[in-house]
Amino acid sequence: MDLQIKSFEEYQRIYQYSVEKPEEFWAEIAEHFYWRRKWNKVLEWNFKEPNIKWFEGARLNITENCLDRHVYKLGDKPAIIWEPNDPNEAHRVLTYKQLLDKVEQFSNVLKNNGIRKGDRVCIYLPMVPELVIAVLACARIGAIHSVVFGGFSAQSIADRINDADCRLVITADGGFRGTKQIALKSIVDDALVQCKSVERVIVLTRTRTPVSMIKGRDVWWEDEIKKVETQGNPPCPAEEMNAEDLLFILYTSGSTGKPKGVVHTCAGYMVYTGYTFTNAFQYQPDEVYFCTADIGWITGHSYIIYGPLSQGATSLMFEGVPNWPDAGRLWDIVEKHKVNILYTAPTAIRSLMAAGDQYVEGKDLSTITKLGTVGEPINEEAWHWYDQKIGKGKAPIVDTWWQTETGGFLISPIAGVTPTVPGYAMLPLPGVQPILVDENGQEIEGNGVSGNLCIKYPWPGMIRTTYGDHERCRQTYFSVYENLYFTGDGCLRDENGYYRITGRVDDVLNVSGHRIGTAEVENAINMHSDVIESAVVGYPHPVKGQGIYAFVIASQHHTDEDLTRQDINQTVSRIIGAIAKPDKIQFVSGLPKTRSGKIMRRILRKIAEGDTSNLGDTTTLLDPAVVDEIKEGAEKLRG
Ligand code: WTA
Repeated sequence: MDLQIKSFEEYQRIYQYSVEKPEEFWAEIAEHFYWRRKWNKVLEWNFKEPNIKWFEGARLNITENCLDRHVYKLGDKPAIIWEPNDPNEAHRVLTYKQLLDKVEQFSNVLKNNGIRKGDRVCIYLPMVPELVIAVLACARIGAIHSVVFGGFSAQSIADRINDADCRLVITADGGFRGTKQIALKSIVDDALVQCKSVERVIVLTRTRTPVSMIKGRDVWWEDEIKKVETQGNPPCPAEEMNAEDLLFILYTSGSTGKPKGVVHTCAGYMVYTGYTFTNAFQYQPDEVYFCTADIGWITGHSYIIYGPLSQGATSLMFEGVPNWPDAGRLWDIVEKHKVNILYTAPTAIRSLMAAGDQYVEGKDLSTITKLGTVGEPINEEAWHWYDQKIGKGKAPIVDTWWQTETGGFLISPIAGVTPTVPGYAMLPLPGVQPILVDENGQEIEGNGVSGNLCIKYPWPGMIRTTYGDHERCRQTYFSVYENLYFTGDGCLRDENGYYRITGRVDDVLNVSGHRIGTAEVENAINMHSDVIESAVVGYPHPVKGQGIYAFVIASQHHTDEDLTRQDINQTVSRIIGAIAKPDKIQFVSGLPKTRSGKIMRRILRKIAEGDTSNLGDTTTLLDPAVVDEIKEGAEKLRG
């Protein structure tokens, strides 16, 4: 069986086969990868514990699939094209051969610094090629990487390092983002005050920001590379891994306070990201593929690094932001590097659309063959703008629905093969069995229906556990509905059987395509000394998709409410990171609670949305009068 599906008829046939004979199907797909040893059993599973094992008995290394196996034929093909933040700085290209050399070199650096198979390594780097090198070097020696997005605070880094007991941190002096410089090393230093497990910090030079290098702990990336060079640059053979050995941990927000470490393992994740990448985007041998995500999120892991590289693709990574030096930057990059496939988030599309068409006009986007979106529902207006202005009406848009936990796309069009409808993720990819259920877990059959989206059969890229706390994994994903993986998303299946994701049904916000738990933000707000209690909800935001709205009870009446708001924002930045700062803070004297003390978020959501016409039954509240006060306050805040 070929990896790429070429027609809708073929899609239907293969989909059917993948449901009827999942093990045979995935075994045929897995044949397209390089194994040191093949599997004994394709799949063993139950969703009760859960216990999910793909390709048991197989031995492999994902970097041999992403690098070594391509070098013979594609050695001089660009693997990574790097576009810097500043358009006046030279871009960089790493061919497959060069990337392999650099990965081997840095693998030896890791070994020289005492890192072995199974050790956890925290990576806190800007979007530079060394981030890809660091990730792949970990994978090559069997160390487990935990990449932390560069926008997270010291406290967030410390929590993640401690949860995973990381022995080593890889960071840079600083990072560039638009006009800003982020002092990454200094943030790491603040974090490490709380982290006993870290023995070594490797620091890459990027911004030439002064840093404090702690004796016996901190070393420079460049010096460590020189050491390997003086050792004669020995090769670093890939560690042979078991199929279910851990590949990486990536922390993500849920409906409770503490982010959880989603665990992905070697074989299944490799097969799944490679298969879904090549299919959804219908990647052709010489195409340049540009994903604008940050490698700090799952999109960057799966669809900048592992998926594209395992398929021998050219993956373009961008250090900067879409609106600097102006809102035409992405289009300049497309023109400069003759990008064929562009994959970005609806938030970026909306903000570039709002900046005006003059930034697109005159840019040569004729190379574009396919477009993609990810991370949040896309509104029709943004979809059409993307289609017309960027794709010129001839590039299929794949609206890829998936999650950190799913490893790769679950529901997505296949470019040029499946039909597309604005706002719809369309149909499940082969091997994916979605079902809609009602509150009681009863399956909702037929078309033209909505419900909570679950998956009833395993796929190779799925989450295996939450690091250090398997019970949490079970409770979060596998206990809400018996024998089903629960996604946390609401979903509509229309008359044609096409799927449209309607948004989270739990207490998780999606701000600019980033997942943020309301409880997490509340905990951060509550750290402020003047805050007694808070409740956070999402509200529709024209660019970010969702904005963060915080209702706050403060201990004393402040004459300068704005200053208190700034203080609270500062606190949230400190505890989580600037991405979690509330867009709106409303001071209230009480919160709508049931007699049992539960906050009625439904009411707060309505008020935040500005829709107070029908708040439902408020008579069961402990203090119904508080609702009127909050309503009035909200109107005042809107001005
Ligand atoms: C949302 C990002 C609508 C969804 C890959 C999901 C989407 C959450 C889409 C996962 C889409 C992702 N349409 N909503 N195409 N893709 N989502 O873990 O709510 O950062 O549960 O993974 O983003 O976010 P995460």
